Amino acid sequence: MAGPAGPRRGAAMAELSIIRDGGMLVTDGIISQVGPSIEIERAARDHEVVDMGGRVVGPGFVDAHTHLVFAGNRIDDFERRAQGETYEQIATAGGGIWSTVQKTRAAPENELLRQARRHARWFLAGGTTTIEAKSGYGLTLESELKILRVIRQLQREEPSLDYVPTFLGAHAVPPSYQPNDYVDLVINEMLPDVTKERLAEYADVFCEKGYFNIEQSRRVLLAAQKAGLKLRGHVDQLTNSGGAILMAEVGATTADHLEKTDEKGMAALKAANVQPVLLPASVYGLGASIYPRAREMIETGLAVVLATDFNPGSSPTASMLMVLSLACTHLKMTPAEAFTAATINAACSLGRGNQIGSLQPGKTANFAVFDCQDYRELAYWFGLPQTHAVYVRGECVYRARYGRLT
Ligand code: NIG
Ligand code: FE
Repeated sequence: MAGPAGPRRGAAMAELSIIRDGGMLVTDGIISQVGPSIEIERAARDHEVVDMGGRVVGPGFVDAHTHLVFAGNRIDDFERRAQGETYEQIATAGGGIWSTVQKTRAAPENELLRQARRHARWFLAGGTTTIEAKSGYGLTLESELKILRVIRQLQREEPSLDYVPTFLGAHAVPPSYQPNDYVDLVINEMLPDVTKERLAEYADVFCEKGYFNIEQSRRVLLAAQKAGLKLRGHVDQLTNSGGAILMAEVGATTADHLEKTDEKGMAALKAANVQPVLLPASVYGLGASIYPRAREMIETGLAVVLATDFNPGSSPTASMLMVLSLACTHLKMTPAEAFTAATINAACSLGRGNQIGSLQPGKTANFAVFDCQDYRELAYWFGLPQTHAVYVRGECVYRARYGRLT
């Protein structure tokens, strides 16, 4: 994929600049040339030549919304949902975010790190090379800092995946707090330490009935902005509370979820240049049926992003390939639009559009090699791995153990 810098909108989302029989010259971890393989081989001279065997090579996926760090899982919630209980009912009955918070608080930092490393390997195995990673399962100063330090530690020791950290102290209200008092704690005690230690680039809030209302969300977001963080937000997921409009009002970088956002919300995002981050795997994971209105968003000219929402409650998947499939079957995006949303548009939403998200000279050589001949197969086959190899800064960091399945 080549093309202009910046996110793609409208019809441009379907333009991939595919090079058949293409090649890429990588020097010191940076892409130095892209073109027909004969030309690249001629230019290669003192470079090692790696034959990808006619496979699809694309930029590593950029997953712009994940809850990477948490302890345990939520298989009990999962089973209860299978028996007909809703996400809200399960949360009220002692499951939900709060149950993961208790486990995450109890886990020592090195145990949390061990579990997060395991999650990180799943991302890599799916062809993802950069992820946004949120805190939000601590909800005390000390445990939110613990989660953010785990992310920082992973960035240091795991050169195979890049992380963009987000502070999500306002993920849920602990039962012992009045919502407004908890918002005070987030603003007055957590934010100053998070920013002092430079543990986050973005701040996020779960704006939803039973979590944080518009007023409380606005307070958190404005305080975070004042402290120097850029903004993302979980909005209009279960109910349309005007969350998209709030994200536009505060000048957020992204508005995420948007399952219940209407035309007014979409128009506000467009006017304020906010990127929508769509998370179809969390709709699927909850067994819900209302997906965000991606077609209207694309037609409105929004620079749509796709992400996994990897988390133990609603979206236990690290697979961007699964997300591409859902984007085509349920959001009615074309494979090309979905690929753009999962790569260059996602990179732009993380402020890294000049470094990653496409295979262009000057960009970091983060790329994935897939066992197929046509990029559309990535969204078409689902439920089986298609990743052949993954490269970060020009180094192979993942290779499928058994090669092709056929
Ligand atoms: O993005 N919406 C809030 N947060 C997650 C779910 C978190 C959980 O259930 O643990 C989400 O869907
Ligand atoms: Fe989320």
